[in-house]
Amino acid sequence: MTHRVLTGITTTGTPHLGNYVGAIRPAILASRQPGVESFFFLADYHALIKCDEPARIERSRLEIAATWLAAGLDPKRVTFYRQSDIVEIPELTWLLTCVASKGLMNRAHAYKAATELNEAAGLDPDAGVTMGLFSYPILMAADILMFNAHQVPVGRDQVQHIEMARDLAQRFNHLFGAGRELFVLPQAAVDERVAMLPGLDGRKMSKSYDNTVPLFEGGASGLREALARVVTDSRTPGEPKDPDSSHLVAIHAAFADDGERDVLRAELLAGLGWGEAKARVQRRIEQELAPMRETYRDLVSHPERIEDILLEGARKARAVAGPFLRELREAVGLRRMVAVSGPAPAPVAPTDKPAVPVFKQYRESDGKFYFKLASADGRVLLQSLAFDTGRDAGQWVTRLKSEAAAALAQAPVTRAPGVSMDDVLSALAAWST
Ligand code: TRP
Repeated sequence: MTHRVLTGITTTGTPHLGNYVGAIRPAILASRQPGVESFFFLADYHALIKCDEPARIERSRLEIAATWLAAGLDPKRVTFYRQSDIVEIPELTWLLTCVASKGLMNRAHAYKAATELNEAAGLDPDAGVTMGLFSYPILMAADILMFNAHQVPVGRDQVQHIEMARDLAQRFNHLFGAGRELFVLPQAAVDERVAMLPGLDGRKMSKSYDNTVPLFEGGASGLREALARVVTDSRTPGEPKDPDSSHLVAIHAAFADDGERDVLRAELLAGLGWGEAKARVQRRIEQELAPMRETYRDLVSHPERIEDILLEGARKARAVAGPFLRELREAVGLRRMVAVSGPAPAPVAPTDKPAVPVFKQYRESDGKFYFKLASADGRVLLQSLAFDTGRDAGQWVTRLKSEAAAALAQAPVTRAPGVSMDDVLSALAAWST
């Protein structure tokens, strides 16, 4: 199986340089590697937790989608979608909610920070806390586990959430896997080199610190104006400057190659003025961003193109999520009432032929394909899950006939109530001779 990488961006704001350098650019580069299957999405259900302004959610979805595409995401290579288009995600969220211990959720950073602030202010600890905020990590776990992602590139602040997703996956596997690993245990991938782009004031560039440099919005002049506000020391042109303590140098480093970095450092040591240094940094960033900004503008003024791309992404994503969710429903016991209220097995017509077990393949009104195994006396022994094609169903029947126990361990089937493994194996033995 290929290596699956998945990450999402919450659609509450306008993308800034920190999002680009820390998340978008490395994710797109990684998606071009052979053997990697990437799932990138707009976390718009998560956005509702933090934001109750519909217009802002709408605008941010558009800007973030356009940013991914302008930055080079290839929707043919990457499964690129909106979280809210995948109806399987809220359903999985519920399955996970039912195995998530409340105590674990009490320890989630975002929730704890909110209660601590409230307590410090002498308020009820849960004042203003919604169930959305409280359950945030479960929704995030569903995002990740729905697609069995191996690796989740995130900022350091999100590592705890990935650990919670692992925890939930493990618990679910243990409770319902019957020895199978239903969920892959995901791993956080934090790139220490890029995770911390400083903002205007030198703290991590983040919307919450109001110290960001916009990526595309505002155009080249927006970039210039923002860079002009990067805090520097008060040394005048001609005075030597310390490159190691300069945020401007750190921002430049995220775009420049080694040679360019060395040149800027040497010139600052030799007294280059901050104004001129900022102009150079701006020109270097422009080199990378200007062509993308064109594409960005074009996309933002044609939202219907983005809509088409996202709908196609949702189709691809649901082709993975749908069958997997059916398997999970089955695992927790949300099953078809086959043995209980299904059509009674047809009475076996008297015949000269000795009675033998049979596989029956059929199609249901849901358009899906199924099979069941009935014993020689007409009892249903095995019931399959749904398949998208009759061929898939047929292949399992063939395997069960030829490999018996080995295939049974993996086949997407359930035993009818009261039927033992031995009943099934002795029926399958009819094909081994
Ligand atoms: N919570 C993440 C953030 O704010 C966004 C997110 C939602 C996410 N679901 C995810 C990231 C799944 C990675 C995987 O940054």
